[in-house]
Parts: sequence; structure tokens; C-alpha cells
Amino acid sequence: MATKGFPDGFTWGVATSAFQIEGAHDIDGRGPSIWDAYADQTGFIADGSNAKVACDHYHRFAEDIGLMESLSVGAYRFSVAWPRVLPTGRGTVNAAGLDFYDRLVDALLAAEIEPWTTLYHWDLPQPLEDQGGWANRSTVDAFVELADAVTARLGDRVKRWITHNEPWCVSVLGHAQGDHAPGKTNWQDALVASHHLLLSHGRAVPVIRGNATAGKVGITLNVSPCEPASPSEADRTSARQFDGELNRWFLDPIYFGRYPEDVVQHHEREGRLSDGMPFVRPGDLEEINHPIDFLGVNYYHRAVVRSASMPEADNEPRTIPPPDPKELTDMGWEVYPEGLTQALVRLNVDYQPGSLVVTENGAGYATGPDDAGSVQDTRRCDYVRRHLRACLAAIEAGVPLDGYFLWSLLDNFEWSFGFGKRFGIVWVDFETQQRIIKASGHMYSRIVRNNGISEECAA
Ligand code: FCB
Repeated sequence: MATKGFPDGFTWGVATSAFQIEGAHDIDGRGPSIWDAYADQTGFIADGSNAKVACDHYHRFAEDIGLMESLSVGAYRFSVAWPRVLPTGRGTVNAAGLDFYDRLVDALLAAEIEPWTTLYHWDLPQPLEDQGGWANRSTVDAFVELADAVTARLGDRVKRWITHNEPWCVSVLGHAQGDHAPGKTNWQDALVASHHLLLSHGRAVPVIRGNATAGKVGITLNVSPCEPASPSEADRTSARQFDGELNRWFLDPIYFGRYPEDVVQHHEREGRLSDGMPFVRPGDLEEINHPIDFLGVNYYHRAVVRSASMPEADNEPRTIPPPDPKELTDMGWEVYPEGLTQALVRLNVDYQPGSLVVTENGAGYATGPDDAGSVQDTRRCDYVRRHLRACLAAIEAGVPLDGYFLWSLLDNFEWSFGFGKRFGIVWVDFETQQRIIKASGHMYSRIVRNNGISEECAA
């Protein structure tokens, strides 16, 4: 079959985030984050666990870089724990905390692995939350302080910067639905938080560029194509609304410098903007619209949307289980690789970001070691291969896709699911901290080395 294949220089990476792997929650001056507090409240984490130790990556980072080296991955996307660097959120930098990332970056570069650094992957310092968190505009400037401190130290060596990871999850899951820290259930707060997240992104971009002069800056969004559950007018309208809340609410300000009018009206109808949008001040949207170098896309599944059978007060679009879920992962997420092609093509057509990178894609499957101690996670191999074919289809269609990061290097703390959901291509025994490269890890290694899809899936 004639195919263009992955371009030369395509970035092959793996991804993690600080809170999910580091542990060492009170070591070397790290302060508490909202996720520490959320996990400490009983009932919020499915298995009652917390991330005080997690993968103990803080102490084992050299071993974990060794694993990446043995897998031949070219790039590693990690995040910086804000409460390590600025334990109370702003003010005096905790040198020991920043030193950790300095050592990490040097060790990555020594192993010829390119560091891709995310500045915010959800672990807001609790003292900032105590002052209102992302719903308080002063958190915008606190984030810029973080961006400045981290890029001033690492900007000579780190060439790829991601301001935020999935601001929709931070704002909506964290502030409207209460499924993520800080566990609020107030839509008004969620919308204010979303604006402050976007503003902090835009305001940080020139600061990062000033410190990391050869660096490229982007943001990572969770993008899902939104399909109506039926061809009915009501479902089509709901699908468009949901696409607005999930995708366009973030993309339009970043790329066009405006909020989508239909989504503003939808939020108004729902009573979420009772006073209008006074939190959007003159000049904010120009800042958010600051040009960026690439768009990071996290893709796991599509959204299938049905209109609620309206009592008027509750006509929110609903995402529903897919009509024909041929396969579901342990998260209950449908395996739908076509959605990745659709998302990438759509982003390229509608927003022309210049460069797209899949900054997360992967699957939660519990498969553990067999009697011989190998992990034959054939379903994950299948998931990854099919999504890589979806990437190729997007490249064939002209999408400037420059990299792919598999989520995740390690099994880790999967937020409110705790340790029950395993996304790693490396198995982690959380009692002993033993690591075992899964069959998917070996397959991915072949893919990276060949710059092309490998069919073989064996541990
Ligand atoms: C994404 C998060 C990441 C991980 C995956 C499964 O939404 O960015 O930290 O939890 O989902």
C-alpha cells in the first residue's frame, strides 16, 4: 500500500505528569496541591488511594530515563509540579524543587531524549486555591511567575514548552462537575476559571519566549469530535453545543481572539453568566490570541451527544455511551481511532495551527504480568497501532502532524480513579516499585526505531 508514512524528524515520545508519578509529596520543600487535598477527602478517589508515593519517580527518575532510553523514545513530555517550585503558589522560589527539574532535564539530554515541559498539569498549590484558585484573577499572575521561574532556569535546554494541559478538564471537571480537584460544582466559577486559564496561557507566552529564546511554545487541549446520537435536529443542535463547550470555547479565543457567540448564548440561557462576562477585561482576548508555535492535542475518544429530554431548566447536551461500543477500554471509553483523524483534520482546516502534535493518546487496560512475568497487553498494542494509522491518515490528508506522545510511560495515579486504571506501556508494581516493560512498550520501541508501524506485539 503506497503511503507517505511518518515524516523524517517526526517526534516519538511518551508522556507523564508530575502529580501522577512523582510521589515525594513533602520532600525538599514541596507544598500541598489541590490534588493532595482532594485525595485526602474521603470518597473522592475511587480506590481510596492518594499520590503521596505514586511511582516514586522523584527518587527513581534515573531508572525511568533508563527505561525510556532502552525503548529508544526520542522525547519525553513531563510536567513541573508548581508546589515544588513555588510552594505557596508565588513569591520565593524553592531552589530544591527547581533543582529536581534541572537534574531531570540534564539526565534526559544526556540520554538524547528531548524534554517537552508542561507548566501546568492540574496541581495548583493549595494556598492559591484558598484564595479562590483559578476563579481568582490573581492566579493568572501567579502562573506567569511560575512560567518565568521555570523557563529562566530550564529555557537554555528545554526547547518545547506547553503552558497548560486540558484547560477544559481543569475548568469544567474541576469547577462545574466536581469530578476533579478542587471539586467545585458551580458553572459560573468554571467559566471564570476557563478565562483565567486562557489568559494565563496568553500572558505566559511572551515570558517563555523571552527566557527560552530558541524554544517553541504551545498549549495542549483535549479535543474530541462531537457527533449527534441521531440525525434529529435536537441531537444535531446538542452536538454543536457540546462541541462549542468542549472545543471551540478554548480554540476560538486562542486562534481568533474571541469567544464563540453561540456558546456564550448557550451559557447565558443556562444561567451560567448571570452578570454577563465582566471577568473578560479589555485587552484580555488580544493577550490570549498571542501566536503560538504548535497545538498539542490529547485524544482518547469521540463524544456522542444527545439532547436531554428537556425540562427547561436542564437542557444541557448529554454525552452518552456510543450506540455500538464495539470495544471499550477499562475507562469505559470507546476505541474510535477515526475520531483522531477527524479531530486533526478539523483542527487543521478550521484553525490552521501550523504544527500539530498529539501530546497524549493511549488506553487504560489492567493486563498484568503472567506466570512468566511478562505483560502481554495485546489490546493496548492494537489501540496504539490503530491510532497511529489514524495519524497517518491525517498526514495523508495534509495535516502538519509533527509528533506523537503515548500516554503513558508508566502505570500511574489516574486522578479520581486512583491506581485502578493502568495506562502505562511499563507495568508498575506499586508495592515494590518494580517496573516491567509491557508488550506494548516493546512494540512502541520498534515503531520508534522504524519510524513506522510495527505489527508485532510481544513482551
Ligand atoms: C488526560 C490527562 C492525563 C491522563 C489521561 C488518561 O485527560 O491529561 O493526565 O489522566 O487523561
